[in-house]
Amino acid sequence: MGNPVDHSKSPWIHARFAELTGEPMEYGKRLIGLDEFAPGVRAFIAEGGKGCNITVPFKFQAASLVTTRSERAALAEACNILSFEDGRIHGDNTDGIGFVDDVERNAGMKLARLDVLLLGAGGAAAGVLGPVLQAKPRSVAVANRTLSKAQALVQRHAALAQAQGVELQAVALDAVRGTYDLVANATASSLGGAQVPVDPRVLKRGALAYDMMYGPAAEGFLHWAREHGAVGRDGLGMLVEQAAEAFLAWRGVRPPSAQVLAELRQELQR
Ligand code: ATR
Repeated sequence: MGNPVDHSKSPWIHARFAELTGEPMEYGKRLIGLDEFAPGVRAFIAEGGKGCNITVPFKFQAASLVTTRSERAALAEACNILSFEDGRIHGDNTDGIGFVDDVERNAGMKLARLDVLLLGAGGAAAGVLGPVLQAKPRSVAVANRTLSKAQALVQRHAALAQAQGVELQAVALDAVRGTYDLVANATASSLGGAQVPVDPRVLKRGALAYDMMYGPAAEGFLHWAREHGAVGRDGLGMLVEQAAEAFLAWRGVRPPSAQVLAELRQELQR
């Protein structure tokens, strides 16, 4: 459910997961009117829907509609997945674990003891920060154009960071110091055609420079990464891995996500 949903690759991904695991699942897409989110969810439940993904712009509204929510959804203040059972709505957020899974499993970079720079402090950044901290990097710097938003996000995650032994700080985009193993772009800057909003000297040699978008929206960042000796990666793997975690939550089976990611890349190149 989202607005718009035309572009969504999720029905293709879930159909492939269902096929490969032999699970009986139907997954479609549904355009919900901008003021119709809660009635849209209730109508789907009445039709016998068992769960759904939520995409832009409803992830925040979803978090306030739920009966119960996971800790990671509470930290993100957003849900990308709902499950319905006995009249209750449970909300979760698999975006962050999808990002960590893609970085660790598919790109082969274990985050433990590394230095991470997260660019942005909006919905996309909030979705990933909790699971990134759970992966126990050495440090995470959240850099945002509007410093106060980065500070608020960091404050909300301070207890988790401390429990995980991670050094967590907020910084303004134009005041980032030091060098990082992973630079993850969760800003919307490329959508408006703006330049990559950070100095390339933040990249350690061979760093992974990750844009959470994919397709044309990620191209500028990937070009910047290559130009400065980093390994660029777009967010297609994050999309597939968050879907795999959702499929696991609904069906109790983890689908072969790396295979489906490879197939989806081929599909998109046609
Ligand atoms: P999303 O859900 O995609 O994260 P959002 O919640 O609107 O969208 O957040 C957009 C993020 O991109 C914010 O971190 C925003 O910075 P501000 O908090 O300062 O607005 C960031 N952003 C958008 N355009 C940007 C630009 N041209 N340069 C740098 N950061 C930008």
